[in-house]
Amino acid sequence: MTEYTVEFVGTGEAIEVSDKQTILKACIEEGIAQEYSCRVGMCLACSAEILEGEVTQPAARGLTEEEAERYALTCMARPQSDLKLERGIYPPSIEDDVAAAADAAADD
Ligand code: FES
Repeated sequence: MTEYTVEFVGTGEAIEVSDKQTILKACIEEGIAQEYSCRVGMCLACSAEILEGEVTQPAARGLTEEEAERYALTCMARPQSDLKLERGIYPPSIEDDVAAAADAAADD
């Protein structure tokens, strides 16, 4: 098991996260207010932009392949290096979800 430092720019918070642990789980344990909802890689609520470093997140189904290079779904992402993340930054595809939800609401 390897531990990496995950730093959240903007808030200056930094935590140690093992390569076997999701970033979200470590945030919850450390009392960091990371947003989340589904916890299964679908809703994008837990998204963060990757400013530096690499994650593995094969189960992040809510992201396109291209988005997975730049965004981490923290409920699924495990660090592969030290990281700098910006929390609350969402990939472009979240707009599609919002539009679909608005369409569904309009149909009611
Ligand atoms: S909490 Fe839904 S994608 Fe992470």
